Order: sequence, then structure tokens, then C-alpha cells
Amino acid sequence: MNLLKATNLSHTFDNKLFNDVSLELNSGESLAIIGLSGSGKSTLLHILSTLLSPDEGRVFLFGEDVSSMTAKRLSEIKRDSLGLVFQQHYLFRGFSVIENLEVAAMLAEQTIDEKLLSRLGIEETKEQKVTELSGGQQQRVSIARVLTKKPQILFVDEPTGNLDNITSNEVKEILFDYVKEHNAGMILVTHNEEFASSCDKVYRLENTELKVIK
Ligand SMILES: Nc1ncnc2c1ncn2[C@@H]1O[C@H](COP(=O)(O)OP(=O)(O)O)[C@@H](O)[C@H]1O
Ligand SMILES: [Mg+2]
Repeated sequence: MNLLKATNLSHTFDNKLFNDVSLELNSGESLAIIGLSGSGKSTLLHILSTLLSPDEGRVFLFGEDVSSMTAKRLSEIKRDSLGLVFQQHYLFRGFSVIENLEVAAMLAEQTIDEKLLSRLGIEETKEQKVTELSGGQQQRVSIARVLTKKPQILFVDEPTGNLDNITSNEVKEILFDYVKEHNAGMILVTHNEEFASSCDKVYRLENTELKVIK
């Protein structure tokens, strides 16, 4: 099943970042976007995840054109079906780890997966305020929070940026396992070549073009 389709996307800030970019994501698939810093990867991910409107082109989610959705429909899709794991983790700062997860579980009518917390190595931090955690721990809590929602599409920006090798391998496995178990889709921006090459499709954003690597 097609989860996401983007057609002829172009976007410019000070410079043209990309021109006439198209891609598709189906159920069970993972797709990586690599490229130099500043090439526009995060901007492309923001467009694909509906946070930003492109200058040109369209994004379809589950067959529906994002640009013609009502605000209500778009917020339903974002709440129920999209999971965003971005560098600025959107955790509730005054709350504990477990409270952050409880809010996500409650909004999505899901339960907290204790196994996931132990795989992420954050079960011991449950009662701590998120502001007391290291950058890497906060990153893992934000991954747990997003997966607790059980989204159909994951958008992931540099998930292993703050993590050591062992933890980043575990995060990688958790994300791939999630995609497989839930027949979900993942679009991943990463500097980690090994992480990228484990994806079904790999693209490089370079000189305003999205080149197929795999
Ligand atoms: N909201 C914005 N307003 C103006 N310029 C931006 C904005 N977001 C990103 N840029 C610029 O667009 C370029 C690409 O940024 P980004 O998409 O974050 O690249 P990457 O994720 O590949 O490092 C950078 O030069 C950045 O400064
Ligand atoms: Mg970026």
C-alpha cells in the first residue's frame, strides 16, 4: 500500500535547495536520504511530514493531497498516523519521562510498551524529569514517545546524532523492527552510511537533485 507520494517538489530559502524531486514510500519500506550538511535534507523531511509547504509540488499521504486537506483532517492524520523523530525533540520539559509517555499513550489510545523502554535503556529514568537527562537519553525518550503512538509513517532526522555506537545500533534495530512489525514506513535522514544502506531505498540530495543510490 502506498503511504506517501511526493511529486515534483521544489523549495528555495536563500538558495534553491531542491528542484523537481519525487519519491514514494510504501508499507513495510524504509527510505534513507543522505547528503552534505546544508543540502536541504531536513527541509525536505519537513515538507514530507507536512510541517512546511513546498514552493512547488505536492505531497500525498495515504492517497490524499496534503494541500487540499482541511485543517481538521490534516491534524487528525498528524495525530494518529505520523511519527516525527527530529533533532529538537518535542518533549514536555516540566514532566517526567513516564508522564511524557503517558500523554502520548493517552492521546493515541495505546499502551506504553515496557519492553521498548528497556531496549532503549531508559526504564531506570522513568521517574526523572526530562530536563535532568543527557541529550542521548532525551533522544531515546523522544523515540519511545513517538513509537508509543504507533504511527504508520515515521519521519526520522539524524536519530543517532547524540548517541554512542552501541546505543545507536540498538536505536537502528528498534526502528527497523518497528517498521517490520507494524508494516509501517520510515523516511530517515542520516549521516550514518551503515544505517542508510540498511534501508530499502537510498537517495542522495546533491546539487538540488535527489539521486537514486539504491
Ligand atoms: N526556515 C528557514 N529559513 C531560512 N533558511 C533556512 C530555513 N531552514 C533551513 N534554511 C537553510 O536552508 C539550507 C538547508 O538547510 P537544511 O534543510 O537544514 O539542510 P540539512 O538538513 O541538509 O543540513 C541551509 O542553508 C539553511 O540555513
Ligand atoms: Mg538537517
